[in-house]
Amino acid sequence: MKIAVLPGDGIGTEIVAEAVKVLKLLDLPLEMESALVGGCAYEAHGHPLPESTLKLAMASDAVLFGAVGDWKYDKLDRPLRPEQAILGLRKNMGLFANFRPAICYEQLVDASSLKPELIAGLDILIIRELTGDIYFGQPRGRRIATDGHFPGAEEAFDTMRYSRPEIERIAHVAFQAAQKRSKRVTSVDKNNVLETSQLWKDVMVEIGQQYPDVALDHMLVDNAAMQLVKAPKKFDVLVTGNMFGDILSDEASMLTGSIGMLPSASLNSKGQGLYEPSHGSAPDIAGKGIANPLATILSAAMMLRFSLNQEAAAQRIEAAVQKVLQQGLRTSDIYSEGTTQVSTVQMGDAVVKAL
Ligand code: IPM
Ligand code: MG
Repeated sequence: MKIAVLPGDGIGTEIVAEAVKVLKLLDLPLEMESALVGGCAYEAHGHPLPESTLKLAMASDAVLFGAVGDWKYDKLDRPLRPEQAILGLRKNMGLFANFRPAICYEQLVDASSLKPELIAGLDILIIRELTGDIYFGQPRGRRIATDGHFPGAEEAFDTMRYSRPEIERIAHVAFQAAQKRSKRVTSVDKNNVLETSQLWKDVMVEIGQQYPDVALDHMLVDNAAMQLVKAPKKFDVLVTGNMFGDILSDEASMLTGSIGMLPSASLNSKGQGLYEPSHGSAPDIAGKGIANPLATILSAAMMLRFSLNQEAAAQRIEAAVQKVLQQGLRTSDIYSEGTTQVSTVQMGDAVVKAL
């Protein structure tokens, strides 16, 4: 089982190191190979997604990814910015289905900024379409400056685009995921304003007819953003496009206590997957040893489940994470009174010990 390990920038290296420690402990024939991605790859090779990194990822069964980005690259031309690396991996590998489960662990009910009764027992699955929408629309977005100088450009645009097959395949993913859960799908769009959303809704209804055992409802994205903090437990599977999914999954992460708890899986139709925490590179806390490695460790568990067919090992890791939370160990983002604050490495060590 070949895993490409791409830690990236900022806290990426710190959190991925902890997940690798956990994976190494399992008695599995895992072959892990690391490569540079993001800002550090730009520094070393002049490109955030070097050919060699992309090749390694494409030739692997799964990619374990940290995070990319730093403010110091904000002035680079867009194609050279660190974020293009993750977008390039998603596009080149065809990773169209992004699973972002937001589960509120019982032990973390007090770490959320929401009232405990709103989130206790929360278990929702956000399914975000990942290779279409305004992220990849053609013509490509650009700034328009009459004199060719971008600072001071007069106009800018991005193209929001979805095709029927793109919506169909993510619809199937959502309905099939719902069949294994509570058999409910909420499709989120903005069809009162956007044509892409009208197509989205029409196709969801159409594909939904093939899944008569699953109840489908629709919600406008602004309302969904509100309902997520008003009554989050009303959701089960929430399926939405790339841009809305980006925003709503960050929002949902706070229902779990911290974005440091939210893992993710991005899958293609061949079963290959990229696994990463839903959070970013957090340059403000990088190098301080305080980042929460649990989202990455839980992403590694998703990797074992979805790409490597190792359900038992996935469950072992998830149980170990539960156990360290039960022991009261907390990184600073999930700390609350009466618990024990630990560093990134100490949290990783505790998971290893629990395993
Ligand atoms: C995410 C991130 C990325 C996205 C960025 C880093 C390009 O925010 O995975 O949610 O917008 O998809
Ligand atoms: Mg995001």
